[in-house]
Amino acid sequence: MEPVLDKVVVIGGGGHSKVVIDILQSAGTYEIVGFTDNSDQQRSLCGVPYLGNDEILPELLNKGVLRFIVGLGDNKVRKILFEKIRTVGFMPVNAISPFAHISPHAKIGQGVVVMAGAVINPYAVIKDNVIINTLSGIDHDCIIDSHVHIAPGTSLTGCVRVCEGAFVGTGSKITPNVEIGEWSVIGAGAVVISDILPGSTVVGVPAKKIIAKG
Ligand SMILES: CC(C)(COP(=O)(O)OP(=O)(O)OC[C@H]1O[C@@H](n2cnc3c(N)ncnc32)[C@H](O)[C@@H]1OP(=O)(O)O)[C@@H](O)C(=O)NCCC(=O)NCCS
Repeated sequence: MEPVLDKVVVIGGGGHSKVVIDILQSAGTYEIVGFTDNSDQQRSLCGVPYLGNDEILPELLNKGVLRFIVGLGDNKVRKILFEKIRTVGFMPVNAISPFAHISPHAKIGQGVVVMAGAVINPYAVIKDNVIINTLSGIDHDCIIDSHVHIAPGTSLTGCVRVCEGAFVGTGSKITPNVEIGEWSVIGAGAVVISDILPGSTVVGVPAKKIIAKG
């Protein structure tokens, strides 16, 4: 007899959602009832139906869909939706690719996405609503705070702290013991060798703050 799986709704219908759906399908842990999106142009994604905009969520709760995951890469929007949807009674689920390696000695929060090829080493802590994107490495004792996005191919060496809402761009490398401030942005390919102030954008090797022109 087929096992009865808990039902989950995916929030958002963009590129990131496609990967989240694909991971949930590969993992096979939940029944994906569909996805919501606030633009009304949506068709199915990876064979999963478009359900409507977020106004449909209370109806889903009544139908016994109690779980959700936000499939949006933008940290600010993902934070708002994560908190709002949890408040109305849904429970966040994780989407962990079967092709990621997560140490049993690492700690993983709720609503976390870990994509294929990612490696999370012992004593790393990944808090809620974080994205660890394709082929990224999070080494021992790193702390990744809520609503962070670690983009594809990024390398965090040991004991790095990434504070709430920061975006760590694709292919960047962070040397040990560095702290990346809240809501800061690390440019693609940057090498970060010292602490980054909250809210700043840095690029280059070694990473330096972008100075606004004008
Ligand atoms: C850092 C970043 C956010 C800056 O974007 P922006 O604010 O729109 O900045 P601009 O494109 O106007 O560039 C400003 C200056 O920084 C330089 N710059 C921008 N990104 C850079 C990077 N990654 N490395 C080196 N220099 C960079 C530009 O050449 C420009 O230099 P100039 O003033 O001498 O002409 C963006 O370029 C970036 O790297 N994003 C990461 C994307 C990513 O990883 N996506 C993953 C999706 S899953």
